[in-house]
Amino acid sequence: MARWQNRWLVAALGLALLLPAQAAQADGETNYDAAYCGGPNGSPPPRFSTLIDLPLLFTNILIYTANPSKLYGPKDAWTNWYEESDMRKSLAKLATMRSLLEKSNLWDTYLGWTPSAPACPADAATVRQLDGTCNDLKATYMGGAGVRFGRNMDPSLPAAHADANLMSPNPREVSRLLFTRDEFKPVPFLNMFAASWIQFMVHDWFAHENSGLDFWQVPLASDDPLYRAGQRESMLVPRTAADRSRRASESGLGPTYPNEVTHWWDGSQMYGSDVATAGRLRSFEGGHLVIDASGLLPVAADGFEDTGFRRNWWLGLALMHNLFAREHNAVADMLHASYPAMTDQQLFDKARLIVAAEIAKIHTVEWTPAILPNPSLEVAMNANWFGLNKYLSPKVVRLPSFVPLPYAHVIYGIMGGKRELHQNAATGKDVPFALTEEFVSVYRMHPLLPDALEIHSADTGGIMEIVPLEQTRNADARGIEERYSMRDLLFSFGVTHPGALVLHNYPHVLQNLNIPLLGTLDMGTVDVLRDRERGVPRYNEFRRQLQLKPLASIDALTDDLALRAQLKRVYGNDAGAIERVDLLVGTLAESQRPTCYGFGETAFQVFTLMASRRLQGDRFFTDDFRPEVYTPEGMAWIAQASMKGLLLRHYPELARTGLASVTNAFYPWQ
Ligand code: HEM
Repeated sequence: MARWQNRWLVAALGLALLLPAQAAQADGETNYDAAYCGGPNGSPPPRFSTLIDLPLLFTNILIYTANPSKLYGPKDAWTNWYEESDMRKSLAKLATMRSLLEKSNLWDTYLGWTPSAPACPADAATVRQLDGTCNDLKATYMGGAGVRFGRNMDPSLPAAHADANLMSPNPREVSRLLFTRDEFKPVPFLNMFAASWIQFMVHDWFAHENSGLDFWQVPLASDDPLYRAGQRESMLVPRTAADRSRRASESGLGPTYPNEVTHWWDGSQMYGSDVATAGRLRSFEGGHLVIDASGLLPVAADGFEDTGFRRNWWLGLALMHNLFAREHNAVADMLHASYPAMTDQQLFDKARLIVAAEIAKIHTVEWTPAILPNPSLEVAMNANWFGLNKYLSPKVVRLPSFVPLPYAHVIYGIMGGKRELHQNAATGKDVPFALTEEFVSVYRMHPLLPDALEIHSADTGGIMEIVPLEQTRNADARGIEERYSMRDLLFSFGVTHPGALVLHNYPHVLQNLNIPLLGTLDMGTVDVLRDRERGVPRYNEFRRQLQLKPLASIDALTDDLALRAQLKRVYGNDAGAIERVDLLVGTLAESQRPTCYGFGETAFQVFTLMASRRLQGDRFFTDDFRPEVYTPEGMAWIAQASMKGLLLRHYPELARTGLASVTNAFYPWQ
């Protein structure tokens, strides 16, 4: 038995001696079932006995680790954790899957060298740097803006190389035949904040740079509406800008790309990833960000809000950025009241640190359980933040971090625990923190967007205007913010639904983006092409690489007979067709989804790994998530933070809306 397994057994038995069993019931349903899935107030929390349930959970982890075949259904390729009626088993399966991934699916993409490590300023130990450097005080480059994306598979594998069949099948045909929305399919259990939020997050985490001069030419079929509109015979898609740091010695690697923004969960979408951008946004008084006389972020020359990351702007993003700019200033004011001697710089830096942690908390314990309202997953996400201790009785006393308690982060939570980069089993080396290409791919969630936004009156609930999505972008977003009250706009996002992550639900607006000088760009085409270009394998190979079982055929992908036929029309009807299915197509097509899940297990596999990694690899969420760094007041502020609380703090007029009746603000405000 491996040494860590022995340690596990000892811990399990030890805890059994120390520490009654009340696991929530799963009904094994795979569809959203309001009686089982979490609702506006989440699922009823389980109560676990520290003496019985915790050792049982650990023992189950040992069993599944020794026998990973138990993680899959007996007859098919799908994972089965959500079919366990005993939550101790479903949680143990999730924990096992995560540790298997941590051992084999974190890869560095620098071969034989690392970027130079910049010197750190004196305050680096206690505040985040704008460019993301100095989070790791030794490998100071780690996670900084401009550093390469990592990978969730060996970057030297053929699977991680750019697809040799870049145009096959034609990505535009994939988009036209499989993505085009026939009718809007909403997610009944989410509101539009969920869509806005996740774009707000991805702008914090990652961005690829596009080439200005180098284009892919995607041929247009003669019956393509764009072709018939006479635009041209091909669609021009800018290539992803090449990685200028590549060395000749790295020819064995698949394509690598730098992240334009910091890899950390540090609010870089609000503050920027460089000093100049932050300087533009700060008032240099009281640690504040500039908010103009109308109570909104200032307008840049192009007519919409100035902030850290401004691409792909629309009303949903504008609402998020304005809310969090206000939150930043409120935190700075709170700190100033407690620490009048703090300088503007100190107030800004500490406020940023605290706001970033609030964002990470809301995402972990609110957004994720809202889009994946499975009771076990809700417990797992809360365990990431608070630890299983939240549900244990009696509580496990917190041991000092030098006591080698295996899986301490499961019991106490990742926050404030020991930073862990994870050692790659093949290389034997710790993997420097970086977000990954595969992580980017599974966030291609454009179907969340509707084609039009309804503006409702918070007083009557009635619809005041229906605005095409296209007319909510850039400066138009600001126009809407100035035309309507924040109460009406926020209420509208609270009561309307995003689109489901399924085929034939891609917003028309994004399939017809007007790009000056280039003509019409179809983001569906781009989504498919990008994964192929960047060496993210197609669906079945992606599953293999991420330790999931491949599907036997397109028929196994979906129960929908009409969809099967369409998939075969695009990818062929031969035995190898399933291997050609693109990642995004496969993930949107999966009809088998974990119970209550807004998306399927293939994308979830990446989340299982990376959601914890984002916290665990960051010094400010682990070793330095402590009052000495955040201030006691900052820790208390984060402890009480919730999306609902933030909305009510800055827009108290929302108290007389349906927001009052939900605990989780991402659920429809009834
Ligand atoms: C009106 C709203 C939106 C617009 C106009 C928009 C537009 C775009 C554009 C133009 C790109 C760059 C494509 C490329 O050249 O590679 C992009 C990338 C992307 N978008 Fe969106 N998007 C919107 C909303 C969303 C939402 C709601 C999500 C949900 C998570 C999302 C996720 C992504 C991701 C993951 C990428 C890839 C980024 C990268 O390659 O680094 N977008 N989007």
